[in-house]
Amino acid sequence: MDLPVLSAQPTAPTADAADAAAADAVETADAAEQAARPAASALSPSTADPLWWRSAVIYQIYLRSFADGNGDGIGDLAGVRKHLGYLRDLGVDAIWFTPWYESPLADGGYDVADYRTINPAFGDLAEAETLIQEALTLGIRTIVDVVPNHISDQHPWFQAALAAGPGSPERERFWFRPGRGENGDELPTGWVSNFSGETWTRTTNPDGTPGEWYLHLFTPQQPDLNWNHPEVRAEHEAILRFWFDRGVAGVRIDSAALLVKDESLPEVPEHPGPGEHPNQDRDELHDIYRGWRAIADSYPGTRVLVGEIWLPEIDRFAMYLRPDELHTAFNFDFLARPWDAHELRASIDQTLAAHAPVDAPSTWVLSNHDVTRPVTRYGRADSSFAFAKKRVGTPTDLALGRRRARAAALLTAALPGSLYLYQGDELGLPEVEDLPADRLEDPMHFRSGGVDPGRDGCRVPLPWRGVHPPFGFSPREASAEPWLPQPEAWAALTVEAQQSDASSMLWLYRNALRLRRSEPGLGDGPLRWIDGPPGTLAFSRGDRFVSVTNLSTEAVALPEHTAILLSSDPLVGGLLPPDSTAWLRTQLPSPHHTASHHTTERNRQ
Ligand code: NOJ
Ligand code: CA
Repeated sequence: MDLPVLSAQPTAPTADAADAAAADAVETADAAEQAARPAASALSPSTADPLWWRSAVIYQIYLRSFADGNGDGIGDLAGVRKHLGYLRDLGVDAIWFTPWYESPLADGGYDVADYRTINPAFGDLAEAETLIQEALTLGIRTIVDVVPNHISDQHPWFQAALAAGPGSPERERFWFRPGRGENGDELPTGWVSNFSGETWTRTTNPDGTPGEWYLHLFTPQQPDLNWNHPEVRAEHEAILRFWFDRGVAGVRIDSAALLVKDESLPEVPEHPGPGEHPNQDRDELHDIYRGWRAIADSYPGTRVLVGEIWLPEIDRFAMYLRPDELHTAFNFDFLARPWDAHELRASIDQTLAAHAPVDAPSTWVLSNHDVTRPVTRYGRADSSFAFAKKRVGTPTDLALGRRRARAAALLTAALPGSLYLYQGDELGLPEVEDLPADRLEDPMHFRSGGVDPGRDGCRVPLPWRGVHPPFGFSPREASAEPWLPQPEAWAALTVEAQQSDASSMLWLYRNALRLRRSEPGLGDGPLRWIDGPPGTLAFSRGDRFVSVTNLSTEAVALPEHTAILLSSDPLVGGLLPPDSTAWLRTQLPSPHHTASHHTTERNRQ
């Protein structure tokens, strides 16, 4: 019989609580831990497992807020390099960087001014290349963000278009149009922005008269590109090659279903049928991604294309995952559902069923830099997520949210496919909802007229150590405060504090990812549901592993098992309490697989 893994957990060192004395405790603790476990092997693209992405755990780094190496209060590449050991020990296979390019940061970097230059606030290209290689030596791949729908209004292309004037070839790379109405002062369409408000901004002619309008599905600082233009296509293919040549293992594609527009610019129908929306999910997109896939496939190892695709129709979503298109796409359906067994079961079933025909692994995403942190979301009476529903001052039970977020972490880590983890979720950080108004930056907040609290609250710099801000985010001699202030209460949530607490969220994640790596049934592969009490989700992976989540209000008995491998909360009298998940070692007979998913040989090297 297997011993419960928790008992084999390395003893967490006692950390010194005082900030000054503990200056390097996090790094020191990492070193002690590293000695206790075999080092991860270096990766080389040509020898690595070509199917790594089907089971990968991918950690999202929001660079401005991960760690500040030079003390200006802004996270940077030096800060990430310093903490690569932390990420290796957490057990992630890849890191995804939100845009790190030259940008005025009108939308946190999703307004790219130059794809081939790193924002000087973060570092430079040579340092990015060094980081990519250093990560590979620790067994960690790098994924970069590409934002093809729009660029910064400071990008040379847009500046040239403004200067060249109406009818110029420079304007054809964008969507410039005369206004409607007698004086051209009415918007060309009534399309509503994803950031609320209008999608067109009027330009001024060189002589000061009102000029043409240009399209921006997001902010005016993010003009939409015209994907019917050959130079737009060629430039993005060159950008892919630029980063693949530097050893990145994949790209995350921003707003991947928005690029193509109906050239006649019709209004959005009330109920658009499949492919009928003038600026979403147009059929022409698939050819673009077939071209990208050919480029990715021309490189050694597997370079993955990961789509950011928010679509209500899951069958349309799955079309992007056909074998010659994207490898995977974020599964936001699960994230949007409330903490409810029926809802989550439906989401899991629908996700697996939609992915099976295209033989793509599903992804599991609890969080990212755009949505309310899970600890906060799951602590609310309505625990579903929708941008339109975000409101300042929604009552929240953080203790309940934390329990559920722990349970959800184990649930999603046990589901088939790859797993995304947003920085700080491994620390159980809540959404920061009381940021001072004068520190907010998110255009979603401002464009909603302040109704939407915006996304700054999930982007607050990480707490690493010590008992006062900046909690080791910046070096002690730092000249500036973190770009967003951290709550004093985060003293209890620092990496250092959690390092010495075996029941912390950090240790839950570390243990879960270590088990996920060693359990042959986890990651990509089939799932078999097991009958359980109402309000529970129980399934087996492989022959001897079962995950049970209790979303009911009563403690429940566990199915027959020989050991508890891990649980998100302690069992009570042998029962699994509400809002918790347990991973079990079982000796089930070889299961009859009800879900037909591609099984891969597991090789995490
Ligand atoms: C999705 C990104 O995740 C978000 O942060 C950004 O604001 C929009 N796309 C626009 O690029
Ligand atoms: Ca910095």
